[in-house]
Amino acid sequence: MAENLMHALQYTSYGGGAAALKHVEVPIPTPNKGEVLIKLEAISLNPVDWKIQKGMLRPLLPGKFPYIPATDVAGEVVKVGPGVTDFKDGDKVVGQLNHFTGGGLAEFAVAKESLTVARPSEVSAAEGAGLPVAGLTAHQALTQSAGVKLDGSGQQLNLLITAASGGVGQYAVQLAKLGNTHVTATCGARNMDFVKSLGADEVLDYKTPDGAALKSPSGRKYDAVIHCATGIPWSTFEPNLSAKGKVIDITPGPSALLTFAMKKLTFSKKQLVPLLMIPKKENLDYLVNLVKEGKLKTIIDSKYPLSRAEGAWAKIMDGHATGDWSCERFHRAHMTGAMACPIARA
Ligand SMILES: NC(=O)c1ccc[n+]([C@@H]2O[C@H](COP(=O)([O-])OP(=O)(O)OC[C@H]3O[C@@H](n4cnc5c(N)ncnc54)[C@H](OP(=O)(O)O)[C@@H]3O)[C@@H](O)[C@H]2O)c1
Repeated sequence: MAENLMHALQYTSYGGGAAALKHVEVPIPTPNKGEVLIKLEAISLNPVDWKIQKGMLRPLLPGKFPYIPATDVAGEVVKVGPGVTDFKDGDKVVGQLNHFTGGGLAEFAVAKESLTVARPSEVSAAEGAGLPVAGLTAHQALTQSAGVKLDGSGQQLNLLITAASGGVGQYAVQLAKLGNTHVTATCGARNMDFVKSLGADEVLDYKTPDGAALKSPSGRKYDAVIHCATGIPWSTFEPNLSAKGKVIDITPGPSALLTFAMKKLTFSKKQLVPLLMIPKKENLDYLVNLVKEGKLKTIIDSKYPLSRAEGAWAKIMDGHATGDWSCERFHRAHMTGAMACPIARA
C-alpha cells in the first residue's frame, strides 16, 4: 500500500446492508485546525451506523457519498492540526467522530480535539471505543433527564431500564447503580444473569407476560424509565409509573413524539421525554476515568478485524448480538481496528 493510502470500508449509496460495504484504499485524512489524526486501534459500532446507511436519517445523514461509517474510536495520535493544545504525537485517546462525515471504519481517522479525550494505560482501546455513543447516551439519560446523581447523593429513585443487555443499557445499569437507585431491568432470558451481574436489583425477561407488562417483581412504581428498547406503547408504561414518573425514550418514533406533545399540552404529571444525545468532552472524560477506576466496564459482544468488518455490520443490524464469536460472554457488537493485525491487509 502506498505510504499516504489507508485501508477503509465505505458505501456509495443508501441501503444494501453489510454487502454494500466495500473495501477500498483511500488517502489518509489530514487534520485541520483543532483536529487530530488518530491511528485507530479499535472502533465500536452502534445501531445509528446502520440506520444512516438505511437512509433513516436522510437527508441529514450521511453528509455525502462515498461514506466511511462509524464514529466511536480509540487509538494513538500520530499528527495534530494547527491550534491543538491538548494532544501530541503518541498520545493514546478515545474520540467520537462526527456522524456527518463518519470515518471510523478505517486505519486512520481525523477527530476534533473538542471530542477527544486521553486514554490512560488501564483502559484498553476496545474498552474506550465502546464509550462514546452508548456510554454518553446512558450518562445523559440518567443525569440530565432522570436526575440521578452519580455520586450517590439525592433521594432514592426507582428506575426501569429496558434492553439492559444492549450497548446503552449495559452502561445505564452500571452508571445507575453508582447513584442512589433501585434498578429494574428488562432483557431476554439468556441475558438475565449477565444483567444481574452488572448490578440490576431485579431483572425481567421481556418475553414473559410480567416482563412484557414491565411489572416490577417487588411492586415498585418507576420514577424514571431509561427506555433503550423499541415498540413499547405508552399504555404499557403508564400504570407502572410513579405520580411524576417519566419515560426517557432514546428512540422516539412518531407515536412517542405525539405522546410527548399530548403530555405537555395537558400538563400531565407523567411525562415522555425524547432524548437526542449531545456529546460532551467532559462527560466522555468522566466515563473513561470510571473505566480506569474499575467502576464501569465495557462489555464487548464480539471482535472482528477490519478485514471482516462486514460480519460486525451484519451483527449490529440484527439487533440480537450474542456471544458466538468468542469464548468470552459478549454482549455488544464491537470491532477491533485491525491495523496491528496482519489479517487487516489481506
Ligand atoms: N437518542 C440517541 O441519541 C441514541 C443514542 C444511542 C442509541 N440510540 C438508540 O437506542 C436504541 C438502543 O441502542 P443500543 O446500542 O443499546 O442497541 P443494541 O446494543 O443493538 O441492543 C440490542 C439488545 O437489546 C435487547 N432487546 C431488544 N428488544 C428488547 C426488548 N423489547 N426488551 C428488552 N431487551 C430487548 C436485545 O436482546 P435480545 O437479543 O435478547 O432480543 C439485545 O441484547 C437503538 O434504537 C439506538 O438507535 C439512540
